[in-house]
Amino acid sequence: MKEIYKLKNVYKIYKNFSSENMALDDINLELKEGQIIVILGPSGSGKSTMLNLLSGIDVPTKGTINFYDKEIGQLTDEELITYRKENLGFIFQSYNLISNLTVKENIELGLNLALNPLDINQVIETVGLKAHENKYPYQLSGGQMQRVAIARALVKNPKVLFCDEPTGALDEKTGKNVLASLQEINQKYKTTMIIVTHNPSIADMANTVIKMNSGKIKEIKTNKKQKDAIELRWA
Ligand SMILES: Nc1ncnc2c1ncn2[C@@H]1O[C@H](COP(=O)(O)OP(=O)(O)O)[C@@H](O)[C@H]1O
Ligand SMILES: [Mg+2]
Repeated sequence: MKEIYKLKNVYKIYKNFSSENMALDDINLELKEGQIIVILGPSGSGKSTMLNLLSGIDVPTKGTINFYDKEIGQLTDEELITYRKENLGFIFQSYNLISNLTVKENIELGLNLALNPLDINQVIETVGLKAHENKYPYQLSGGQMQRVAIARALVKNPKVLFCDEPTGALDEKTGKNVLASLQEINQKYKTTMIIVTHNPSIADMANTVIKMNSGKIKEIKTNKKQKDAIELRWA
């Protein structure tokens, strides 16, 4: 598999009036396309900062980040917008749905300016929302709302899906169902998944696990076999 991201000597330092906070401390990393990559670490370890840099929302203080052969730091503002629009999808702990739009209409928002979109009905099927497509968000459970958010990010057919604590607000059973949807999407569409979490149970479904602490990579682990999300054991 080709490398989709390559980070070389990446630092992110937040400066205050009186102190410096090293959110990322000399990160060197290569990520392969088509994989499920789990970034695991306690709160404050630099996981969200890492996602912000990979997605071009923020820039490193030092070092370089490549998306294939393009260095993200060298892109113009316009190229950055194109990079995000054409390649990236985002899922967060909060679902950010529009309350006066139906499930299907919320998902349609993801089609905005998509170059190579997937069939919306197929996506709704994949995430198991067919029976709910005409409902409004208030009529859904947390897990169903998260699956709407996943479908909205997926429908434009992104190369990479960034998931920041996607099950953070969900109970175990619902969380596993949401992760099962992500796993199915990865297999079906070969979408690269970068999942950030402090929940070590999620690591077993990854191809690659990156353990972080205090802005540093502590360990990179490759799972020869990936567990089905439904079979994960919540710690
Ligand atoms: N905008 C910011 N300004 C100052 N410090 C920040 C900012 N964002 C994150 N940090 C600090 O950087 C460190 C890493 O944060 P973060 O990447 O959000 O960690 P995680 O997502 O693993 O909880 C923390 O110490 C946090 O307080
Ligand atoms: Mg975070």
